[in-house]
Amino acid sequence: MARIISPSMLSADFGYLADDTRMIDRSAAEWLHIDVMDGVFVPNISFGFPVLAAIAKETTKFLDVHLMIVEPEKYVRRFAEAGAALVTIHAEATKDLPAALRMIREAGVLAGVSIKPATPVETIADVLPLCDLVLVMSVEPGFGGQKFMPESVDKVRKLRSMIDQQNLKTLIEIDGGVSPQNAGMLFAAGCDVLVAGSSVFGAPDPVEAIEQMLNAE
Ligand code: DX5
Ligand code: ZN
Repeated sequence: MARIISPSMLSADFGYLADDTRMIDRSAAEWLHIDVMDGVFVPNISFGFPVLAAIAKETTKFLDVHLMIVEPEKYVRRFAEAGAALVTIHAEATKDLPAALRMIREAGVLAGVSIKPATPVETIADVLPLCDLVLVMSVEPGFGGQKFMPESVDKVRKLRSMIDQQNLKTLIEIDGGVSPQNAGMLFAAGCDVLVAGSSVFGAPDPVEAIEQMLNAE
């Protein structure tokens, strides 16, 4: 199983976005997590295409774009063009999830589906073959710096067995309240990718915090 850290740029210092992006570019993190919020699907607004393009200019890492927006199908192609390598949409945000996932792959990027804490994993059982990644939210989407919800670990375990049973290669990512303290347990539960915002950018040494998570037992 993979061990990937995806630092969330939502917790970066936007006044020094290029510097923070280059710092992650030099770190052991393989991915960068980009949180796009529309103020409708979640009660917060973050950033969109120009900021993604600015980040893409400063790094060669894999850009992991998490769309917390309604009607994501309208914007998939533009995120792909702005530099996304993976576009993840919310199962709760679209009327036709299979069609939206197919559209992402047709745009030439990997397709991900995310579920909020209250959405059971069974909801997405049928679309797993269309997903390169499932993103389990371990906080209510909208803000960084929240407390990890321990119930989400059971969802990861269930998903891992659903994915293995269907013989798929779908990755499992978890997002919200991840830190060096729970990283080892999350990888052991079946996560391949850990998103971490405040525990990276709020650390005295972000590069060191990333290594701690990667090597956590
Ligand atoms: C929340 C976002 C997260 C957030 C994580 O809606 O999806 O990616 O940035 O932040 P931390 O790691 O601080 O919980
Ligand atoms: Zn996110």
